Amino acid sequence: APRHLLSIADLTPAELTTLVRNAHRHKTTITSVNEIPLSLRSALAGKTVAMTFSKRSTRTRVSTEGAIAALGGSPMFLGKDDIQLGVNESLYDTARIISSMTAAIVARVGPHSDVADLAKYSSVPVINALSDLYHPLQIIADVLTIAEVNLSSSSTSLGLEGIKIAWIGDANNVLFDLAIGATKLGMDISVATPNGYEIPEAMRAVINQAASTAPKPGKLFETTVPEEAIKDADILVTDTWVSMGQEEDTAKRLKAFEGFQITSELAKRGGAKENWTFMHCLPRHPEEVSNEVFHGPRSVVFREGENRLWAAISALEAFVVNKGKIL
Ligand code: CP
Ligand code: NVA
Repeated sequence: APRHLLSIADLTPAELTTLVRNAHRHKTTITSVNEIPLSLRSALAGKTVAMTFSKRSTRTRVSTEGAIAALGGSPMFLGKDDIQLGVNESLYDTARIISSMTAAIVARVGPHSDVADLAKYSSVPVINALSDLYHPLQIIADVLTIAEVNLSSSSTSLGLEGIKIAWIGDANNVLFDLAIGATKLGMDISVATPNGYEIPEAMRAVINQAASTAPKPGKLFETTVPEEAIKDADILVTDTWVSMGQEEDTAKRLKAFEGFQITSELAKRGGAKENWTFMHCLPRHPEEVSNEVFHGPRSVVFREGENRLWAAISALEAFVVNKGKIL
């Protein structure tokens, strides 16, 4: 069976580190010489990678299509109105058929079980391009961004131990994979969510289990008070309060999340570290972060966005070109 990338939980701490290091190496070499190294240029030549997306996407689509093209392959974008899946054909039949003609499937889905089932029935690697539980490609880019902003590049580990991340907002897919990745790499993560929007118990168990695979795991703290999460944080991060598929609850959610907007005053009141930086996977809405922070000097959101490309190249290289060997 092929090896799939459905969540950061599928990676050992060393593998996550290698994926991030490779992403960084590709970024440095490709940007400095302004071209793709020969070894990568034709890695997927003559191959098609299917991209089945049941939801909108800017970054994931552009970075993944760009990464496939950079490796010499042909991306085939299949939006929900393009294929029979869901209307006229089962996931099983779709997985069998698409995987019989392609080198990999990059899938954006609603319920995580859809991408898990796709992986179960596919004869080629499946990469999760966002489900309601996880967003691994985002987190590879996020760890790269954290490493670039906070570090000198050190030996085999990324040297992120001791960094503290504060997540202020919704307990969602991006948070779950970020918490898994952070704690695997020895970073602490403090999560502030409003009452009633906490990390579900089953997910808390997944995060703690993932952390336990690390030599020096980071810790997960949870609170309903943003200031408590922010104390001594190096990084303040959030995401939308209304994820795709939750649009019906918009009014209720906007009310529940009042007071959770990331602003300079909140960071100060909470006692963030002097040099805190701001991250957001995007797309961004003004309610979750003030314009001042979002467009200010602490914000690394556009670097984080660009890093999606380098993360996608690294993930495709590992899971498609090298068949799941993360070297
Ligand atoms: N961050 C992210 O996944 O953005 P898109 O929804 O635009 O792909
Ligand atoms: N949590 C958001 C992330 C979008 C990239 C969503 O699922 O819509």
